Amino acid sequence: MHPTFDDRGAWPRTAIHCLLAAGAVMLASMQVARAGTPERLSLDPGWLFLQGDVPLPSIKGKGASYMTTKANETPGPAGADYDDSTWRHVDLPHDWAVEGPFDPDQNRAQGYRPRGIGWYRRYLTLPVTDRGGNIELQLDGVATHSTVWVNGIVVNRNWSGYNGRSIDITPYVRYGKEVNTIAVRVDAEVMEGWWYEGAGMYRHTWLVKRDAVHIATDGIHANPVRKNGRWTLPVTVQVDSSAAAARDAQLDVTLLAPDGRAVARATAPVHVDALHSATATLDLPVRNPRPWTLDKPTLYRVRAVLRDTKGDIDSAETHTGFRTFRFDADRGFFLNGQPTKLQGVAIHQDHAGVGVAVPDSIWEYRMRQLKSMGVNAIRFAHNAPAAEVMDLADRLGILVMDENRNFNTSPDYMQQLTWLVRRDRNRPSVVLWSIFNEEPLQGTEVDYEMARRMVSAIRELDPTRPVTAAMHGGLFSDKGAVQALDVAGINYQVWEYEHFHKTYPNKPVFSSEDTSAFMSRGAYRTDVAQHVVASYDDDAADWGQTQRGSWKHITDHPFMAGGFAWTGLDYRGEPTPHEWPSASSFFGIMDLCAFPKNAYWFRQALWIKDKPVVKLMPHWNWPGKEGQPVKVRVATNAQRVRLLLNGAVVGEKDVATIDMATFDVPYAPGKLEVVAFRDGKEVGRDAVATSGLPARVVLTPDRSALLGDGADAVPVTVSVVDAQGRPVPDANLRVTFEADGAATIIGVGNGDPNSHEPDKAFERSLYNGLAQVIVQGRRAAHGTFTLRARADGLQPAEVALDVRDAGALAVVPEAQPIVRPGTWRSSPPQAERPDPNVAPADNDNNSWAWGDPPLGTPPGDKRWRAFRVSFPLRADHNDGRAHVVLREIAGKAEVWLDGVKLGEKTSFAPGPLALPVPHGSGWRTLTVLVEAEPGKPSGLLGEVLIERGTP
Ligand code: GAL
Repeated sequence: MHPTFDDRGAWPRTAIHCLLAAGAVMLASMQVARAGTPERLSLDPGWLFLQGDVPLPSIKGKGASYMTTKANETPGPAGADYDDSTWRHVDLPHDWAVEGPFDPDQNRAQGYRPRGIGWYRRYLTLPVTDRGGNIELQLDGVATHSTVWVNGIVVNRNWSGYNGRSIDITPYVRYGKEVNTIAVRVDAEVMEGWWYEGAGMYRHTWLVKRDAVHIATDGIHANPVRKNGRWTLPVTVQVDSSAAAARDAQLDVTLLAPDGRAVARATAPVHVDALHSATATLDLPVRNPRPWTLDKPTLYRVRAVLRDTKGDIDSAETHTGFRTFRFDADRGFFLNGQPTKLQGVAIHQDHAGVGVAVPDSIWEYRMRQLKSMGVNAIRFAHNAPAAEVMDLADRLGILVMDENRNFNTSPDYMQQLTWLVRRDRNRPSVVLWSIFNEEPLQGTEVDYEMARRMVSAIRELDPTRPVTAAMHGGLFSDKGAVQALDVAGINYQVWEYEHFHKTYPNKPVFSSEDTSAFMSRGAYRTDVAQHVVASYDDDAADWGQTQRGSWKHITDHPFMAGGFAWTGLDYRGEPTPHEWPSASSFFGIMDLCAFPKNAYWFRQALWIKDKPVVKLMPHWNWPGKEGQPVKVRVATNAQRVRLLLNGAVVGEKDVATIDMATFDVPYAPGKLEVVAFRDGKEVGRDAVATSGLPARVVLTPDRSALLGDGADAVPVTVSVVDAQGRPVPDANLRVTFEADGAATIIGVGNGDPNSHEPDKAFERSLYNGLAQVIVQGRRAAHGTFTLRARADGLQPAEVALDVRDAGALAVVPEAQPIVRPGTWRSSPPQAERPDPNVAPADNDNNSWAWGDPPLGTPPGDKRWRAFRVSFPLRADHNDGRAHVVLREIAGKAEVWLDGVKLGEKTSFAPGPLALPVPHGSGWRTLTVLVEAEPGKPSGLLGEVLIERGTP
């Protein structure tokens, strides 16, 4: 093959590869598709973070303007070669807002914490065996608006903190020793909500490596359908291709029972053209599957394997469940044919200590707490939660009202909606799609026009689930969204329930939001000045009802399919009913740590039917109130309760449905006990006892072992007991912590909405007897972890947790940044030695060619050439000890830096050169003059790097 010149006078890469044997290997491997199984690697560890924005100098010159508009030349921290040597190391999930101070000048709705702008960067390498495959970057949630660059090329922009993105970065990445840079600019100045939204890359990130022909992310649709008493599993699989040519493959789909047995199977051929998608459709008849129920949420796996004549190409898995449900306009909701009221709560997504960067295992703890309260449905308000949270709902048997964040039908927002439906449409937990919450447009023609477009888009992707919206107006308009919805959701307006049912006798309806009651956990005296609300379930917002009151409205109306109480858990921001210094809500049935408030016991008593619930309140520490009446309430599902104080009966009564039982008991220290009866028989009891002063700290971990994977986390409850071991429910003392071993403390909290103590700390005050420490196993660690807790004058506590070896972690290793000066200019060949300090004019794009090494010159009469590049030098390479390394120069050469000669290569024979780089300014200009041996090719044939230390 004859080497050819391109029209800029530099040799094209292919020609160089023909000349250089080493280069030929690289070209050949470009044709090879990566073989084997797909990999989904965590990209969570190893990011660099800068809080704040980086102002860019305004660009006025023609040359600089020309450059910054080129695909990979984005200036500043978006660029591949930006100096981030002073940035902080963080692992994801990360929420920078929760690290910040409380500030009355910040937005109350967002919890009085600064949000602002932040940048993240990550370096990684990809083995050459990945070449020819498909590389996808997945960002599961970034609050709030964000832009993503790979190697300086903008690859994605996103306008929501609640949707995930799968970005095909195959065209932009480099392989082998070359280091790839991912940069993410996060704008959290913008808001999508009136609650605490956090800031940053607060969900997981992944790198997915697959064959060029592969099953698309969320590309399996497998949602069982029951028709005429028989189950089938209709499956469609989207196959995408980044291959260079059309390919044929076979798709093999298997349904696996929980024990791993294959219970149904089908195959279909797929033909996919280069850079196109194809969809395969299959039908799997399923005989007598085990149903997905709230008590036994049986999940089946759907496994799709793509293969061609040479073997498996790709595979993917999803899970699903077999259940039926329907909403009935007269009789409410039915699951598997059984009438089932939706005993729901709405929740946001932040937790004590960690903000919105909630580890999956802490989500599991939160959801278990909700389930044990009798919750059978969750509304993730007002947005999609993380996929792992939806997995928990499927696994724990909790129904989900799956809510879209942005009510908007323009393309960017419709993509957010379709992303949600594609991700969640196989999930047995999902029984409602919700397109909005409380939109001022509701009831208008615009509302209707937008709603019907969203309903139609959902229906196309999933015809099996009804679409709803949470409305607080426009319900009776003959124009609005309600006309387009399958099921109506009413927020708060309990007086509209009857009216709605009469107006729309055929439209199912439920309470999409209610309650908004207030409680401070463990407090029994309302103190307006101190922002404390007593916990008897007597207080609610003007627009809401108590826990008991709201449920009464639902049970009084059999046509109501159920309701979602605002809120299952406290959340930061929207502090109600008190503002500064209160920084989080008082609405939670549990507090920010997921410690039950008394609302939890009221809900249990209302919702749990199959076992006795008896909870006595308040605590029994009322020094100074001897002889005075203390209000006592029992949350119970029993029929009758008897109260005993120090063994003597002080009250007995029937329990009123919904209202429960309330007494006034003259206080005397000791033991107050309640005995509960059903049909005259004792079914349970509960007691509170007056405690002495705190004597000892107690640590109670939720689990005794965790994984050393940098992710698994365990909440540890901190409390104090008196000398007799009785809990001290009104202790508010400060506790300090020490962590030692294979885990670390990632946050602390106590559930006090008025607390301004930091979330990231080694100390915390108890709030009414409790605090929480969240510990997380270190990555690639195992052994023991010891947590110690001390409080002044008290016996300290110590607990040991077993940190288990998590095995090989599927993570993308962190790479170190390298300095590879890029975008070289090459002078035309010249007869005389060029002046090393002469560059093309600022407005001259064409007399010198552009490109990066290898930059070869074929033999010719004009034997000289200048190569020139300007580049930023990272501070950690600018210490006077770095070297410029020119891997291969053909010809003699002089190397100049910023107009000063660094050294030279005196022989014509191709060879390397390394020269020290003196300390200097951050911007450097490197010039290499090359003189060819007569009749021989010449140039910079190998890469040019600035390497730290001596090469
Ligand atoms: C509702 C709203 C919720 C929350 C709640 C507080 O109107 O949908 O997001 O603000 O009020 O009571």
